[in-house]
Amino acid sequence: MTGGGRLWGGRFGAGSAEAFDRLNSSLEVDRRLWPQDLRASRAHARMLGAQGIIPAEDAAAIDDGLERIAGELERGEFPFVPGDEDIHTAVERRLTELVGDAGRRLHTARSRNDQVITDTLLHLRERCEAQAGLLRELAEALLAQAEAHVDTLLPGYTHSQRAQPVRLAHHLLAYVWMLDRDRTRLGHAIAATADCPLGSGALSGVGFPIDREMTARELGFERPSPNSLDAVGSRDALIDYLHFAAQLGVHLSRLGAEIVAWAGDEAGFVELSDAFTSGSSMLPQKKNPDAAELARAKAPRLAADLAGLLGTMAGLPLAYNKDLQEDKAYLFDALDTVDLLLPAMTGMLAGATFRVDRMRAATEGGFLAATDLADHLVRAGWPFRRAHEAVGRLVRACLERGVGLEDAVPDDVAAAGLADVDMPELTAEASVEAKRAPGGTARAAVAEQLAAARARVGAW
Ligand code: ARG
Repeated sequence: MTGGGRLWGGRFGAGSAEAFDRLNSSLEVDRRLWPQDLRASRAHARMLGAQGIIPAEDAAAIDDGLERIAGELERGEFPFVPGDEDIHTAVERRLTELVGDAGRRLHTARSRNDQVITDTLLHLRERCEAQAGLLRELAEALLAQAEAHVDTLLPGYTHSQRAQPVRLAHHLLAYVWMLDRDRTRLGHAIAATADCPLGSGALSGVGFPIDREMTARELGFERPSPNSLDAVGSRDALIDYLHFAAQLGVHLSRLGAEIVAWAGDEAGFVELSDAFTSGSSMLPQKKNPDAAELARAKAPRLAADLAGLLGTMAGLPLAYNKDLQEDKAYLFDALDTVDLLLPAMTGMLAGATFRVDRMRAATEGGFLAATDLADHLVRAGWPFRRAHEAVGRLVRACLERGVGLEDAVPDDVAAAGLADVDMPELTAEASVEAKRAPGGTARAAVAEQLAAARARVGAW
């Protein structure tokens, strides 16, 4: 490719090396920005015409040409050529082929630096709005299962050891609150796309009487960006999105990991539908929780996308640097990953059958009521620390005989120094019902929480 064939060829005598072109080209990544690139270019050309910066006939010719190009791209007939460095140069090159000199006027009062971030913000906003809907569907699937399992009890765990019984609804709602905070972060990303960079030029602004309000409004932004250097040199909205995606990834990874454990033979707490599981090529009996495992595994990838862009931005001097071209690989990877994850998690959860009997059985035969017994002693006037110690002794006595707390005999009770205590009912039901303070797992508290979570998700 010779210097003269390029958008920027005038200054160059010799052509560029193929090895450089391969490194420098971003077309494979940014070609998907074409709908936004065409929209923004049409708005820009219309504004240039309206302001008398280019002749009205040229503005009209540009608009027709861009419309034809949209058709070509939509049908997959757009003739990309080897010198097309990115989607912006490809569109401008094609426009000039189609409409001649008018096409050469499109880039008046514009740089690829304000163009690329304008296109990217338009793309980001559309995708965020779609993902807000997907997030809501996932929250609703969790809410529906929670609603159905208010009276399903299972062990709650600390350190992967059975700790105290909880309602399954309570456990599932924990994830709804995580998603609620994710929705807030997604909202921050959407809000960060409000300022329109178009009209910032390469870095210092534009020396023509452009109407930035007009282009900002036409493209659905709230206002023109207030500082040209910041507008072309920052990627905060992308980082806000990647922060959302990374944190969502962590939440879905934890949920995925729990589903994997619950679906495993040892727990057997959940049966996943055939539609969201896969078989083994060798082991005929297998039904693998692949969706949950992949959700577990995507978190580091999303975190890496965030870390990648943060790393690219750190230390970058103002304003535009070619480093910024790397932003889109991280952004699109995260957007696509979230698009894959959310519907699969929603489908997997909606179709999951929780094994109520297995969960209930896992609350029995152990020491899940140990704290309840200590609380009972406290209510009878014992200091908590003494009660804790006495129940600990009882646990040890039971362990020595290989039985759970329900099967303690008077000798065990006496050995623990609790002979004079009249023992309370130590069922899982009594245990959950005792947790009546707000945010706890008693039926009324969970019902209240469910209503609050429904209202939150309804207001997203
Ligand atoms: N492909 C470039 C990007 O994605 C477009 C901007 C190029 N600007 C420049 N001054 N070389 O960032």
